[in-house]
Amino acid sequence: MSYFEQSKIKFEKLKDKEKVLILAFESSCDETSVAVVENGRKILSNIVATQIPIHTRFGGVVPEVASRNHILAISNVTREALLQAGVDLVDIDAIAVTYGAGLIGALLVGVNFAKSLAYANNLPLIGVSHIEGHIAANYLTYPELVPPYMCLLTSGGHTAILEVEDYNKRNMVGSTIDDAVGECFDKVARVLDLGYPGGPKIDKLARLGKPGITFCKTPLRGTYNFSFSGMKTAVINYVHNLEQKGIEINKADIACSFQEEVTDELVTKAISATLEKRLDKLVVAGGVSANSRLQEKLKDVCSKNNINLFIPELSLCTDNAAMIGSAAYFMAKKGEGLSETSLTAKSVVKI
Ligand code: KG4
Ligand code: ZN
Repeated sequence: MSYFEQSKIKFEKLKDKEKVLILAFESSCDETSVAVVENGRKILSNIVATQIPIHTRFGGVVPEVASRNHILAISNVTREALLQAGVDLVDIDAIAVTYGAGLIGALLVGVNFAKSLAYANNLPLIGVSHIEGHIAANYLTYPELVPPYMCLLTSGGHTAILEVEDYNKRNMVGSTIDDAVGECFDKVARVLDLGYPGGPKIDKLARLGKPGITFCKTPLRGTYNFSFSGMKTAVINYVHNLEQKGIEINKADIACSFQEEVTDELVTKAISATLEKRLDKLVVAGGVSANSRLQEKLKDVCSKNNINLFIPELSLCTDNAAMIGSAAYFMAKKGEGLSETSLTAKSVVKI
């Protein structure tokens, strides 16, 4: 029997198996992460080897450098994940891996490593979309959370409002027509010379400033779509204008005003979509869900509107493999996501 035929039989059995252990891989950007997840809800280990210090000196992620460092890290991170979980490869039921979206070279490292491991150990391989993973981070934080719900996806590469009908099944309600919100945080931080990654730096600095400067002169109204691309230019123009006049810029006020504007836009549209679709749960996903001001505003507005709010615990907001293992579990239970060895990395995936 071929590898794929054997993995198909094992994959089918997962539907009824009581305890499913998934070894998951995530390497879409600048974190090499490997995790062991039990039944989609329990993290046995979640090792994240970050490359942030390596890319900091370049002011952002250098794709080629990221790929090379994933190669250097992935074997040891895998060993550590198994060790910390107290399991061996023979205990694993399936292997999951992010196949996209992300940096193609970085993704290829995880995909090829996972494929080889699956093939060598006769295990089913489950290709997972990074977006599905970010959403699933909430299943790890909240064992009681089940679809349907509204989801505000706010990552470095994607921004959207999604109506989640079931695990791995969603409808797009709105999305950004240009930049993602995380990308916008990073770009504005760069203009202000705050360093990389920009989101957490703006979050911290904004606490020292006051709001009041308007950067987005023409916000999109009457739609659930977002537009963030003008923000960077607006901040540059604002800074240059003051510099030309010899006025000292107040970075904290700029960070605070920018953050207020962006989070207002996210919160208003996410809440309004949740209410319009008569849903009582709002789930937040992606790196920007770590933003303290966004969390504060969402908590306030959700409690006023009787909406239950779900935000992943801080360590699961940004990229990690446990969220991929969780997403893979729920896909497997529905009989979805079994990949062949032809699985390849994709820089763009359907939201
Ligand atoms: O979801 P993620 O880890 O990567 C992608 O899938 O793209 O998100 C990373 C993004 C970066 O743009 C980073 O600046 C942003 O999330 N981020 C934040 C915060 N922490 C991370 N943005 C705003 N405030 C934060 N505290
Ligand atoms: Zn991500």
